[in-house]
Amino acid sequence: MDSKFLKGKHIVLGICGGIAAYKSAALLRLLVKRGAEVQVIMTPAAKEFITPVTMSALSGKPVVSEFFTANSGEWHSHVDLGLWADLMVIAPATASTLAKMACGVADNMLVTTYLSAREHVIVAPAMDLDMFAHPSTRRNLDTLRSYGVQVIEPASGELASHLVGKGRMEEPERIVEIIEDYFRNVSLKSAPVQNRDFNGKKIAITAGPTYENIDPVRFIGNYSSGKMGFAIAAEFARRGAEVTLISGPVSLPTPEGVNRIDVRSACEMLKAAEGPMERCDYGIFAAAVADYRPANEAETKIKREGVSEMQINLVRNPDIAATCGARKKAGQLFVGFALETDKGLDAARAKLQRKNLDMVVLNTLADSGAGFGTDTNKVTIVTENSIIEFPLKSKQEVATDIIDSITQLNDA
Ligand code: C5P
Repeated sequence: MDSKFLKGKHIVLGICGGIAAYKSAALLRLLVKRGAEVQVIMTPAAKEFITPVTMSALSGKPVVSEFFTANSGEWHSHVDLGLWADLMVIAPATASTLAKMACGVADNMLVTTYLSAREHVIVAPAMDLDMFAHPSTRRNLDTLRSYGVQVIEPASGELASHLVGKGRMEEPERIVEIIEDYFRNVSLKSAPVQNRDFNGKKIAITAGPTYENIDPVRFIGNYSSGKMGFAIAAEFARRGAEVTLISGPVSLPTPEGVNRIDVRSACEMLKAAEGPMERCDYGIFAAAVADYRPANEAETKIKREGVSEMQINLVRNPDIAATCGARKKAGQLFVGFALETDKGLDAARAKLQRKNLDMVVLNTLADSGAGFGTDTNKVTIVTENSIIEFPLKSKQEVATDIIDSITQLNDA
């Protein structure tokens, strides 16, 4: 099954010597199945864990490992490979290879190719938990990040040593998703901006979760990743708009050309959003705002000693969409979201009225691939006079659908 973003892409897959090298075979197979051309480079140690025969059979290309072919003396050019690659992925990346990459120790074909690579580089570290936590590994990863290398954090779980902790290489399926995301973003950035149809328009967007403090070290929050709101912000900016993004705590980079305001709690979000929402042409309420917050935030850490049961009194948070919706002026258009587990349409219609919105984007947790944390979403766009159901799409594509629907509502 070819992938639109991976088909025909040249990927150098570097494999280091670690138990997780067995997962590289699955990763290679997934990449090739999606239409990528993959050249495997193995470090000498990697061949102790998985054979080059397996990898060359799966990639359809001889594996490169040494600088020269032993009997013919043919030279393998790391420079050519570095130039050929649209992307270099090193999975698993061992502590030793990460250290060599950080310091430029070019003593094998893999590190030498890394030093020659002009395009993006992604590493998926895998090692024992103590090696991963060691300050030298942390420092090397920070150094690589500062060079622009993308690090796929290892997951926690049982390791080859039978110790449990952080160090397992991310699963091949997830690594493929991350690689697809990379190429999707490249294609979005390089796509000609034919349509700057929001030139001169002002957009305000709330996104992400809110955190409501219980005490200095604890909070009430939710699983919202902010991805949907950020994708909408990026698409509006690409189409020429002046975008203000009011974001709760998320770990996402700011989309190009977007003005971002970081907040933590619902009250802070309302305060930061009021001005931009009043001045905007289009207001998008994509944040997953906590409905309640602790009535009192303890000034010092709450101790458990001598306390067998605990109640936290909660008070209602302001409804940002409803507050701004009540102040909506003629010519402004406001869009809200509804994440429902059942009776979605009724709830979405009720929100249109109650919050004075023009459009509600409904997603149902019952649909797999939709909702919090995922890179995809399946939405139904509800307005006063229409209901349009869309299939499962990437959040970037959903952002385009939402903005196209706004354009149509405007023209109606
Ligand atoms: O009422 P409910 O939380 O289901 O409504 C969801 C919509 O309202 C979303 O657009 C969300 O961003 C917005 N909302 C808000 N402030 C709240 C609660 C929800 O802006 N306190």
